Amino acid sequence: MLIKTHNNGFIHPTSSEITPRTVYEGRRELMKLMATGAASAAMASWAGREALAQTVAPGKLPALKGAKSAVDGAMAMEKLTEYKDASTYNNFYEFGTDKADPAQNAHTLKTKPWTVEIEGLVNKPGKFNLEDLIKLSAQEERIYRLRCVEGWSMVIPWVGYSLSELIKKVEPQSGAKFVEFVTLADPKTMPFVGSRVLDWPYVEGLRMDEAMHPLTLLTFGMYGEVLPNQNGAPVRLVVPWKYGFKSAKSIVKIRFTDKEPKTAWNKAAANEYGFYSNVNPNVDHPRWSQSDERRIGDGGGLFAKRRKTLMFNGYEAQVGKLYAGLDLKRNF
Ligand code: MTE
Repeated sequence: MLIKTHNNGFIHPTSSEITPRTVYEGRRELMKLMATGAASAAMASWAGREALAQTVAPGKLPALKGAKSAVDGAMAMEKLTEYKDASTYNNFYEFGTDKADPAQNAHTLKTKPWTVEIEGLVNKPGKFNLEDLIKLSAQEERIYRLRCVEGWSMVIPWVGYSLSELIKKVEPQSGAKFVEFVTLADPKTMPFVGSRVLDWPYVEGLRMDEAMHPLTLLTFGMYGEVLPNQNGAPVRLVVPWKYGFKSAKSIVKIRFTDKEPKTAWNKAAANEYGFYSNVNPNVDHPRWSQSDERRIGDGGGLFAKRRKTLMFNGYEAQVGKLYAGLDLKRNF
């Protein structure tokens, strides 16, 4: 059973006020404790959560009173991936194709100043500078499982707000059926833009109802800090029920359209990467099974015990209804 719960209750008014990781570590210790069950009863209550906020960052991060969160309560019980793993084992092809490349190369990415342009079928198109975008809505911490199409997964506490908050503000027109996310492609700061591995810029897309779903997170931070460059600074998407590649990094443009966007991976190999790319253990990738996954940090290298992959990555109760009547084998 999925238990709806409040999130962990922190707001981050500006990126500069996002908690330093040292402070965050304390909170993480408490989460570990929760995972053992020892503290779960106490922490389940609002009072407990507020107490947690006080312990960790006195006076700095006011608890988010009354904030709703679509986070599955069970996720808080999963062991978080180590920050070190989450920030050194990455896919960000603009900085190289090896998992270690982004952490090594992404220091050249210039995230200030940064603007995100809103265009297409909306009543209020325009440009947001990053600071205004961050302040547009109260931020929450959401612990999401992210499952990569390659067969590994992580559990990360992301910081952001539902993309729907931004979408509502720009007033999509009735003809807007899809949202396209265009990311930065700057050959001066991104050494692999220009390589032929993908047709740059990296583009992703969602159906309008997927983009409006409260789980879809416009993300500015992780582990209580601003996003490291290699994780998609300064703003990325996290769509937890879809394979990781749908979670576009370093977004510069959000376009509302009446046509299904041509996504980078679909253009590169249409038979392998469909538009939907919902995590689905019953539909294999043409070259490998998707039935199980390796959780980064579980140890054991190639011989690590694998976990069963869950339908919609475990978020079926929340998002399953978006796909009622859709043939998920054809619409992979
Ligand atoms: N976004 C851009 N711009 N470029 C990329 O190469 N890789 C995707 C996605 N977003 C990618 C991207 C893939 S394949 C995955 S699995 C996730 O980012 C990885 O996110 P993480 O490094 O934070 O785990």
